[in-house]
Amino acid sequence: MQDFKYSYPVNVYFGSESLKQALDQESAKMGDTVMVTYGGGSIKRNGIYDQVMELLNKDGKRVVEFNGIMSNPTYAKVQEGAKLAKEEQVDFILAVGGGSVSDASKIISAQAKLGEDIWNLEMVDYKFPTGGIPMGVVVTASGTGLEMNNGAVITNEDKKIKAGVLGTLPSFAILNPEFTMTVPHGQVFSGAFDTLSHAMETYFGKSDRDNVSDDVALAIMRNTVKNMRRLVENVEDLEARSNLMWDSAMAENGILKVGRKTDFEAHQIEHQLGAYTDCNHGQGLAVIQPVYYRHILNDASEKFERFAKEVFGKDTAQEGLDALGDLIKACHLPTKLNELRSTVEITPELLRQVADSANLVQTGPRTLTHDEIYDILMECLD
Ligand code: NZQ
Ligand code: ZN
Repeated sequence: MQDFKYSYPVNVYFGSESLKQALDQESAKMGDTVMVTYGGGSIKRNGIYDQVMELLNKDGKRVVEFNGIMSNPTYAKVQEGAKLAKEEQVDFILAVGGGSVSDASKIISAQAKLGEDIWNLEMVDYKFPTGGIPMGVVVTASGTGLEMNNGAVITNEDKKIKAGVLGTLPSFAILNPEFTMTVPHGQVFSGAFDTLSHAMETYFGKSDRDNVSDDVALAIMRNTVKNMRRLVENVEDLEARSNLMWDSAMAENGILKVGRKTDFEAHQIEHQLGAYTDCNHGQGLAVIQPVYYRHILNDASEKFERFAKEVFGKDTAQEGLDALGDLIKACHLPTKLNELRSTVEITPELLRQVADSANLVQTGPRTLTHDEIYDILMECLD
């Protein structure tokens, strides 16, 4: 095990009554003016908006709304939100939505308290914000697990970079599996694959033998796969969605990452693909990750064998990867780049730019080159 410090400051409220329970307990700490952030309007259609507003109104909060946060949130949108938060002297931000809304809100919160541009601060000066407007999260679509960490993934459209930016850690997270019942089915499986991806990316990073975090990651993968299969049988299965919601949080709340290194090369590639195409995150991973793993199979053969045995009950590393591919197909997730939503045509020239701008992770089974990333992407194309 590597040395580590672990502390856990986020209050998590899980279950069908969690919204009310959380606001009952947290409201007094939220101040007078609450900025409710949300996306394209799903929360208005499924009634979550009304439930949130009723509770905030009951507590006498002045509510400021910031909506229209898009999937793969942009830096421009974050700046717009930070400006509003400052103008309205917001005391608290309540993010109500999927990962994109929460990510944008973490950075809106941090930017609103900064005198300088947060992108420059982090990407140029390598400094990080130390304060932000306090915030909480109501998760309406699970998968990213970001409700329990302070990382955000933001697309800088001018620079054509989709990157991790550190923002504000939510003080509480509300996880009501019933809220996920209206998520479009494609997004349900995209989110679940994102969870599986996070656990795999962590597990395939460098670790010592018999590392406890490896074992925990394998358990999360096994449970995620089991419940994805239940959703293939019945996508309305609330119990399966509940398990997946907690799998999602567990995969990204830091528990799997203690005492070890992580890989996350598939994420680096997918994020850049997203910067160029605006593709769906979990779906992009479903295309890229199996191909990436075929490339590095021999660099971590023991780990791949263990993954095959413990997650899929298969004997060999290759059979494990085949089972991963079968799961992706069973969930009707895309297996080729041309099946992804994209704002532009995905051509070899575009993939060259994606490959050349992707970060090369040093802590995975093997550090790739930009040329090899291009080869991986080209294999995903045809
Ligand atoms: O915008 P609305 O109208 O709310 O619709 C959303 C959106 O269209 C819809 N949705 C959410 N909850 C719903 C619902 N529709 C009906 N009923 C509900 N209850 O779902 C669509 C997708 O939402 P989005 O938030 O974009 O998806 P997701 O949760 O997968 O988040 C993806 C973003 O998270 C980033 C990704 O890169 C991507 O930008 N990630 C952030 C991470 C982090 N900060 O740690 C880790 C991840 O690896 C990931 O990179
Ligand atoms: Zn992810």
